[in-house]
Amino acid sequence: MTSSRLDFCRQLAADAGRHAHRAFGSSVISLKGRHDEVTAMDREVEDLIRSRIAQAFPDDAVLGEEAGASRGLAEAAVVWVIDPIDGTANYARGIAHYAVSIGCVAGNQPLLCALYDPSHDRLYHAARGKGAWLSEGGGAARRLAVSTVSALDAATVEVGWSLRRPQADYLALLQRVMSAGCAFRRAGSGALGLADVAAGRTEGYCELHINSWDCAAGLLLVTEAGGRVNDFFRDDGLGHGNPVLATNAALGEALAAVIDMPLHTTP
Ligand code: IPD
Ligand code: CA
Repeated sequence: MTSSRLDFCRQLAADAGRHAHRAFGSSVISLKGRHDEVTAMDREVEDLIRSRIAQAFPDDAVLGEEAGASRGLAEAAVVWVIDPIDGTANYARGIAHYAVSIGCVAGNQPLLCALYDPSHDRLYHAARGKGAWLSEGGGAARRLAVSTVSALDAATVEVGWSLRRPQADYLALLQRVMSAGCAFRRAGSGALGLADVAAGRTEGYCELHINSWDCAAGLLLVTEAGGRVNDFFRDDGLGHGNPVLATNAALGEALAAVIDMPLHTTP
């Protein structure tokens, strides 16, 4: 079951990303809320992904950022969790940092995933117990590993942000991260922020609330690359989102203490 779904998932993420990239910086933008853009291409790409999944795996459920759940998620054995464009604000502004994120979740645990960054032709994938991999420019996939940085004052942590949580909570979080000596950044794609941790480019990613479509793929990349994550799927994280934390292995407990978010005991 896993290998056919994984091959399908990788091809689908790449096809969807190439489709999105044709309108990079020029798709019609509207607002779902304050600082919450959606482009015509978000919807077009989600439709494309949904119809390909429905054709190939009609018994699976789909949960997507734009159109929600295809049916009751609790009854489905397999749920595809899709973000057609993660980093929409970047995409809409012509900033080359966005991705198509597709995760496959079974029994509330990520099973496999693919993440495609069209601007850099980077195709990430992972399957539970089989490692996290990156193919760049269509080349052979190489195995990913988290960084070995073990000092907080040498660490770079991406702090994701949205208006879904109060400003004061974000200021307090930033203060803790900076006081610990970490560098911080916010690049506007939770999915790619998690991929950066998996690839060893940064030491951590955290956000006070993120939706499952933003992180279902990235969390599996991190654990399969040897990193640590919080228990994102607890208490219906799939349906309603949760706080998120992902770290390299060396800094796991130290970053969890700084960020004040416990790590999952079993990765
Ligand atoms: C957002 C991005 C952002 C994260 C937000 C997400 P969108 O998704 O991933 O980096 O901080 O929580 O909502 O709107 O670009 O699909
Ligand atoms: Ca998103």
